[in-house]
Amino acid sequence: MVRRALVIAWIVFFITGATLVARRSWEAQKVFVIGMSQCNLGEPWRQQMNADIRKASEAHPNLRVVFKDAQNDSLVQRSHVEELISQGVDLIIISPREAAPLTRPVAEAFDQAVPVIVVDRAVLGDKYTCFIGADNKKIGREAGKWVVETLGGKGKIVELKGLMTSTPGQDRHTGFIEGLDLGRNPGLEIVFDADMQWLEPNARMEMESALSRFDRIDLVYAHNDPGAHGAYLAAKAAGREGDIKFVGIDALSHEGIMYVNQGVLDVTFQYPTGGAEAVETAVRILNGETVEKKITLGTRIFTKDNVEAGGEAIP
Ligand code: FRU
Repeated sequence: MVRRALVIAWIVFFITGATLVARRSWEAQKVFVIGMSQCNLGEPWRQQMNADIRKASEAHPNLRVVFKDAQNDSLVQRSHVEELISQGVDLIIISPREAAPLTRPVAEAFDQAVPVIVVDRAVLGDKYTCFIGADNKKIGREAGKWVVETLGGKGKIVELKGLMTSTPGQDRHTGFIEGLDLGRNPGLEIVFDADMQWLEPNARMEMESALSRFDRIDLVYAHNDPGAHGAYLAAKAAGREGDIKFVGIDALSHEGIMYVNQGVLDVTFQYPTGGAEAVETAVRILNGETVEKKITLGTRIFTKDNVEAGGEAIP
């Protein structure tokens, strides 16, 4: 009996020790270089993603991250990925501007055994190691349900879409239409929609046309907070912001949440950047572990009623 206990204790001791040694040797081992291809650093949400990546990587002394900013140009981003492959980085994290143009370079990296973590916006097919992001269809659906409830099933809506060649734009639209359930809520109508390509100045311009065409607009659903804010500014300039509800997505503390606090936006849904999760997953991959193909992040809703309390998780 005692002997058996001793043997078990030895085995446990050995395994724990081996794991610690493996971890420590990983930490002390060669420096791993991660190439991070960001599609556009001109937006607060993407600056936050890079900051999250930088912060998470600082916890690992043997990680170096090389950041690339494609400045909202898919061709430039394509060349960045090719450059990272030829530089021989150990792993690539990419947040692609558009799905189709970035599919090939990502697949090329994957085929050359460079692990690729795709964050937030997807590529086509399955030639990548892991995708990390929140469920945009669900966020869109929740926004749609909130609109039905808030407008009481009746009202004129403007939808300002994110870049429709990117997957979050497509999913936030499809989900929204599902949530609106127009079959059951025939009193709701999308009177105007436009692709503002995620950009506040475009959203403002599109909203100016919507305002000039429609005397009555009850609500703006923008696919991100910069879009909702641009629409608000246009409405304010026309003296009509008081008649309209504004719905956004992202919920950065210094952007969407601040707007809800100020009464500029009525609601925003959190869209986590996935930066920290990308680094944690990268470490696991570089450590030889197999990781899930898809990691789905959660979301929260922020309205004036719950913003003080930190919003509310959506199950
Ligand atoms: C930033 C951004 C965010 C949005 C995300 C979607 O470029 O537009 O505002 O949530 O991209 O990919």
